[in-house]
Amino acid sequence: MSDHGKLIAAAREVSRRAYAPYSKFHVGAVVQTPGGETYAGCNVENASYGLTCCAERNAIGQMVAAGATAFDIVAVYTPTEKPTAPCGACRQVLYEFNPEAIVVSACDGPEVIETTVKDLLPGAFGPKNLT
Ligand code: THU
Repeated sequence: MSDHGKLIAAAREVSRRAYAPYSKFHVGAVVQTPGGETYAGCNVENASYGLTCCAERNAIGQMVAAGATAFDIVAVYTPTEKPTAPCGACRQVLYEFNPEAIVVSACDGPEVIETTVKDLLPGAFGPKNLT
């Protein structure tokens, strides 16, 4: 188990509550703030498919609703053999709150990928572009 085992376990746990009747692909994500608080999210699909919201963005929504505006790690669990990286929309939303944050992707296999938000979204548009 990696250094981020607890976060990965929490991401896997929340994936069980995913509302994914269409894809049947249950994803969980947990963000951890610099103060050590964690916020979890799962994907929530919709009969109007395009309204689906990914686990990562729902975890960020939980964080913001709790009054936090920064995180330094996000752990993502997907029910796959190999780890997968967050989708483009989620990369942009993660970037908003910390380009330097570590992204840990875990799955049903033993492999874990660790990268950063900024490496997943080079040349990003972000808050600084509006100042
Ligand atoms: N999904 C996530 O929640 N996060 C990811 O990192 C990849 C994709 C969701 C969206 C949709 O509900 C399902 O997985 C299939 O794409």
